[in-house]
Amino acid sequence: MKPQLILLGAPGSGKGTQAARLVSELGYEHISTGDLLRKEIKSGSELGQRVQGIMDEGKLVDDHTVLELLNSNCDLKSNQYIFDGFPRNHEQAKLLDGEVLKDAKSRAVYFEIDLDMLAARLINRRTCSGCGEIYNLLSKAPAKEGVCDKCGAELTQRKDDNEETVKTRLQVFKDTVEPVLSYYEAEGRLGRIDASAAPDAVFDSLKKQTEL
Ligand code: AP5
Ligand code: MG
Repeated sequence: MKPQLILLGAPGSGKGTQAARLVSELGYEHISTGDLLRKEIKSGSELGQRVQGIMDEGKLVDDHTVLELLNSNCDLKSNQYIFDGFPRNHEQAKLLDGEVLKDAKSRAVYFEIDLDMLAARLINRRTCSGCGEIYNLLSKAPAKEGVCDKCGAELTQRKDDNEETVKTRLQVFKDTVEPVLSYYEAEGRLGRIDASAAPDAVFDSLKKQTEL
């Protein structure tokens, strides 16, 4: 079995876009802690109500809440996962190994990109409310404004994709990423790809990483 895949990268670096392609072309299961948290908010659950304000501000939800959500939504015995959005800090990297992956083999891939490119990507992102397809008004616009090309459902904008919150999200990323990279680098489990390239080129680099 191939190693479980961990995608590391700043907000807007393309983790969700590439994960969708890995799912459809290579048969991975995609688990995004951001998506799981947004689902909790939408359902109005107690957990959702607790985390909503934190996510709206662009800050990190506490490690154990996210770990619990992750653990109850994955089954490593039968699936090969892409972990997207977890870990976000050194503590979460240790928790992922110790409490989720245990003895499963894993490899982390860092989406390298100049952070100055990301605000424009994020503010222009739209997501399908039906199938989750990710669009961009600048680089991947839908054929008909506000409507998903794939399933015809309405496109929506994420609440945290506004200028103010994006600034905070990028700052949080800057403040937390280095120890995570060092953690995987020290164990020889880290690959790096150029995430500023066009989506097809990013996918080719990522695919190579899954073959190592
Ligand atoms: P989360 O949902 O994980 O968001 P994020 O990390 O901020 O990442 P994004 O989903 O914004 O970016 P992405 O890399 O997936 O980019 P995408 O492919 O969509 O987290 C949200 C919040 O949840 C956090 O702020 C936190 O509050 C909470 N949270 C989540 N996990 C947590 C954790 N572990 N611990 C604590 N809190 C947690 O692409 C972006 C745009 O760019 C799209 O429009 C796309 O079309 C475009 N694009 C993609 N690739 C390219 C390309 N190569 N060229 C040009 N445009 C491109
Ligand atoms: Mg994402």
